[in-house]
Amino acid sequence: MERILVIGANGQIGSELVETLSAQHGAENVIAADIGPRSSFGVKRYEPIDVLDANVVSHIIDTYHVTQVYQLAALLSVTGEQAPLKAWDLNMNGLLNILEIARKRGMGGKPLRVFWPSSIAAFGPNTPRDNTPQMTVMDPTTIYGISKLAGERLCEYYFLKFGVDVRSIRYPGIISYKSPPGGGTTDYAIAIFHSALKGETYRCYLGPESGLPMIYMPDAIRATIELMEAPAEKVKVRSSYNVGGISFTPRELAQKIAEQVPGFKIAYEPDARQAIADSWPQSLDDSQATADWGWQAKIGIKELVQDMLANIKLPQPLSKAA
Ligand code: SER
Repeated sequence: MERILVIGANGQIGSELVETLSAQHGAENVIAADIGPRSSFGVKRYEPIDVLDANVVSHIIDTYHVTQVYQLAALLSVTGEQAPLKAWDLNMNGLLNILEIARKRGMGGKPLRVFWPSSIAAFGPNTPRDNTPQMTVMDPTTIYGISKLAGERLCEYYFLKFGVDVRSIRYPGIISYKSPPGGGTTDYAIAIFHSALKGETYRCYLGPESGLPMIYMPDAIRATIELMEAPAEKVKVRSSYNVGGISFTPRELAQKIAEQVPGFKIAYEPDARQAIADSWPQSLDDSQATADWGWQAKIGIKELVQDMLANIKLPQPLSKAA
């Protein structure tokens, strides 16, 4: 029986991961944790913890007899640029704390499987942008990307040196409607849907031809769990796997939305986030993930657009007292 701790459970990925893992393993076997109070209902076990406090995290892992940890707490590319030292501290030391706990538990015969997310942000301006290979030049220019690249090296180091069973995915931009994303460059691809449903022109902070790899949340969750469930010998990459979903530009996405929302308009007002997007891949070669553990993206842009438009719930205006 698995006992699973999800750190960063209030975030965009964490909240949906907790839901899926609870359905698969039973809610009593999933411990959701985040720094603040619980933000979603339907969670059976919740622990307010700071991943930077290694003693507290270790205590939770012991108390619940945890066998798997998803360490998702991080500052993303845009918020990271606003507080680089904080981003470095959280992104690196959060991971290091979990890897150290896993190393020590392994020595005591209580192995801990670890998942940690990397990102397309680990690539940089000298990386080939189309069909970016698994192994290639990586010269990230954001503090977030630098922490992801360093984190990948740490993951592989802990696997090779100490045998820690750590697994990772380089996520593309993740599109979802349930929880808001938290300060990323790829977030335009979510905000655009909210504007379309409100009948507003979307003012896009990226230019029309700014292609980026993206993935719809159900595919991202499936990739994550498939990798975590793969037999250890099939997980040949212990830094992080390229996982592609779909690639499109803001112009292409706006066009697809306009097919469903007649009259929808987009205006382009690139800002500082454009430089970040320009340094990232436009599409990923994820054939290694396919070869090693059978990864296949299933959801295309048409289905994604239909599903987002059908499911986003806009905040209701407060009704006036009679
Ligand atoms: N979605 C993230 C960001 O834009 C990339 O991993 O920062």
